[in-house]
Amino acid sequence: MSGAMRSTVTLHMVASLDGFIARKDNSISWMDSPGDVYEKGVTADGAEVLQSIDCYVLGSRTYEHALQLGWPYGDTPTVVVTSRQLPSTRKSVEFYSGDLKRLVGEVLAPRYANVWLVGGAMLGQSFLRLGLVDEIRLMIAPVLLGDGLHLFGDSGVEQKWLLENVIGYKDGYVELAYRRG
Ligand SMILES: NC(=O)c1ccc[n+]([C@@H]2O[C@H](COP(=O)([O-])OP(=O)(O)OC[C@H]3O[C@@H](n4cnc5c(N)ncnc54)[C@H](OP(=O)(O)O)[C@@H]3O)[C@@H](O)[C@H]2O)c1
Repeated sequence: MSGAMRSTVTLHMVASLDGFIARKDNSISWMDSPGDVYEKGVTADGAEVLQSIDCYVLGSRTYEHALQLGWPYGDTPTVVVTSRQLPSTRKSVEFYSGDLKRLVGEVLAPRYANVWLVGGAMLGQSFLRLGLVDEIRLMIAPVLLGDGLHLFGDSGVEQKWLLENVIGYKDGYVELAYRRG
């Protein structure tokens, strides 16, 4: 969407029950669906939500991992935050280096209404510390990982968030949506 005056920034990630978003070896089998286990749950259908996303924002490590796994962001505009000169791989990808408040206020706001920040931990924590996240959407996977990359880390900052929605899925995943308190 073009011509937006400000963006809504949604932090979206999949986390284990114990709060990790990646294993140390980067393997992702922990996210595999265990099949239908929760009778009262709904079946996931993210098509409408995905269509409403105007732009993805990624840290450079998430970008590199996404390229290895097979690009999941289609042709939706994607901004990769990095201080390095990374090779351009797709027309929909642009790179950004510098101040994150400027990224949101000057680069994204005039162009995109609905921005999804999809990782990783380092970039997500930077956005949260700076108060640049409007909504948190967590998909909680039904697994304890024991160790790995912690979603929130030690930010040293207390923030109140208001529960907006809870969805339980048949496969045992739970989606929690919060908006800034
Ligand atoms: N479970 C999930 O939903 C989920 C989602 C996304 C990612 N992941 C996983 O998380 C891992 C990657 O996360 P990560 O925390 O290690 O890295 P990340 O946040 O994806 O990327 C970190 C990099 O982004 C850039 N960056 C971050 N904050 C910045 C800032 N404030 N200013 C400028 N540049 C900044 C830097 O790039 P340069 O070093 O290039 O300057 C930094 O090294 C991968 O294993 C990925 O698969 C999981």
